[in-house]
Amino acid sequence: ALITLRQLLDHAAENSYGMPAFNINNLEQVRAIMQAARRMDSPVILQASAGARRYAGPNFLQKMVEAASAEFPTIPICLHQDHGASVAVCLRSIQSGFSSVMMDGSLLEDGKTPADFEYNVRVTAEATRAAHACGVSVEGELGCLGSLEQDHDSLSREQLLTDVDEAVAFVDATQVDALAVAIGTSHGAYKFSQPPTGETLAMGRIQEIHQKLPDTHLVMHGSSSVPAELVALINQFGGEIPETYGVPVEDIVKGIRHGVRKVNVDTDLRLASTAAIRQSLAENPSAFDPRQYLKASIQAMQSVCEARFEAFGSAGQA
Ligand code: G3H
Ligand code: 13P
Ligand code: ZN
Repeated sequence: ALITLRQLLDHAAENSYGMPAFNINNLEQVRAIMQAARRMDSPVILQASAGARRYAGPNFLQKMVEAASAEFPTIPICLHQDHGASVAVCLRSIQSGFSSVMMDGSLLEDGKTPADFEYNVRVTAEATRAAHACGVSVEGELGCLGSLEQDHDSLSREQLLTDVDEAVAFVDATQVDALAVAIGTSHGAYKFSQPPTGETLAMGRIQEIHQKLPDTHLVMHGSSSVPAELVALINQFGGEIPETYGVPVEDIVKGIRHGVRKVNVDTDLRLASTAAIRQSLAENPSAFDPRQYLKASIQAMQSVCEARFEAFGSAGQA
């Protein structure tokens, strides 16, 4: 059976651990995450983006998760909609069986233009009222995901980072179950051009927000660690990924000590999968059964998931 984000993150807070939330688009990702969860005895958050719904189709996503819950009956699963751009998107996900939705009102419906605080409060409060009436949890987002490394055309560092007082007002006005905060991370593999420092990765902001909102579950987006060994493997087998750095696991673990309960990871599984497939194809040039390289992909993603369950402390909590 599915559990809500609220149930899962309340348990995480009581037991001082963090939950990785992995994105799913296909069977291989679902298997990798579930097999890792069974091995490490961890609950899971499976999250599907708008891109995932376009790629796999909402029916396939939902039925894959139903299959996962039948095959792994001891693992609590939260099925979460990642980055809903409107209340309507959230309502459709609730209708199709998600136990949690993200209403991302930090951006307008185009998913690009930064929204103002009033807009964000209005759409998030509306989504939350509807979701709670259906027993579904809501994650909101305040602040702008994006690199602090270079000057942004229009927004300063302070405008990008989540403001502490605004966070308090936002949670009060919207009643969200979890709050995604902006601390200098961005989606994808190119977060930092050199190892992040306290200036570029503002973990201190997490502490400040947690002090004012000790009972709010904080969420970190753009939290792939971009392991150097996976980038090296991709490049060794024909890839061309320039030097790049992600969010170090140690920093995430510090965040978990200060109220971070959900940690979004998508890119690391993409890197693991691509590295394994490139290696498998390069080493077996006459092979053509996709199950061979997709099995390698599952194994590589599974080992990333196991490492995150262990590091974030959710291992043993299922
Ligand atoms: O929000 C970012 C996640 O990594 C999902 O990415 O929109 O390409 O599926 P996507
Ligand atoms: P990454 O690109 O760092 O994996 O972040 C994923 C994410 O935040 C999904 O919402
Ligand atoms: Zn995100």
